[in-house]
Order: sequence, then structure tokens, then C-alpha cells
Amino acid sequence: MAVTRTFSIIKPDATRRNLTGAVTKKLEDAGLRVVASKRIQMTREQAEGFYAVHKERPFFGELVDFMVSGPVVVQVLEGEDAVKRNRDVMGATNPADAEEGTIRKEFAESIEANSVHGSDSEENAATEIAFFFDDSEIVG
Ligand code: CMP
Repeated sequence: MAVTRTFSIIKPDATRRNLTGAVTKKLEDAGLRVVASKRIQMTREQAEGFYAVHKERPFFGELVDFMVSGPVVVQVLEGEDAVKRNRDVMGATNPADAEEGTIRKEFAESIEANSVHGSDSEENAATEIAFFFDDSEIVG
């Protein structure tokens, strides 16, 4: 299995509750390595751009409001089959549907305040990584 990269965001509900370390430990325990990480306050422009694929969805406005409501930690994760590995440890988008032991089951507050984002494909991972990181900031 090839070592690949994915993109992760620790969302404002998690940073607010001081869960950055706890979430990162879950990622590391799942076999993912943090090869880039920074804590940022997303601008509205960044949030709208990042989630542009959802702009016709009824929840888009609230999603953007939430993502700028506090700091987030953007990360690049590396590991074998990183996209799937990360999605498995994140759990279902809605914490009510998430499996035991997943990040969202343990930490998420709601479908919106669901603690983490993770890329859904390798193609999107590359786009999302480039949205927040220069190559020089990623050290594997
Ligand atoms: P994320 O993986 O960051 O991608 C889009 C986000 O929209 C998703 O996680 C959810 O947190 C958020 N969201 C808010 N409301 C909904 C909804 N009704 N259905 C799906 N996603 C939602």
C-alpha cells in the first residue's frame, strides 16, 4: 500500500474545548503522521473558497459562519492510504452515525460542529493541501 497524503482541519468546536492534542493523538494512533500543521483564524474569504463545492447547499452560510467562529488547525497527514485511513478514524459526518472509537463519536457536538474535516479523495487532498500550504511548509 502506497504512502500518500491527506488534508485535515481540526475545527473551531474542538480548538475551543482544547482538544487539538486529543484529536491529533487519535490521528497518530491510526497510523497517520502530521507532516505539516498550523493554527490559523480562517477568513470568511478562505472558508467560502475552501467550501465552494457546497455553496448551493442550504447549510453553506452556517458552515462558513462556524468555520470562522474560532481558530482551526490545518494539517497535512501522511500514511499508508492516508485519505481512507483518516476518514475511517474521523467517523461519519453526523456524530449520531459515527462508530465507537472514532473522533466524531468521541468529540463531535453536532453535524456542523463535528470537530474535524478530512479530504474525501486523493485529488481533493492535493487541492486542499495547496489551498493552505506551500511545499516548503511540509516536512515528511
Ligand atoms: P466537512 O467534512 O467539513 O464538509 C462539509 C461540512 O458541512 C461537513 O463536514 C459538516 O460539518 C457540514 N455540515 C453542516 N450541515 C450539514 C448537513 N446538513 N449535511 C452535511 N454536512 C453538513
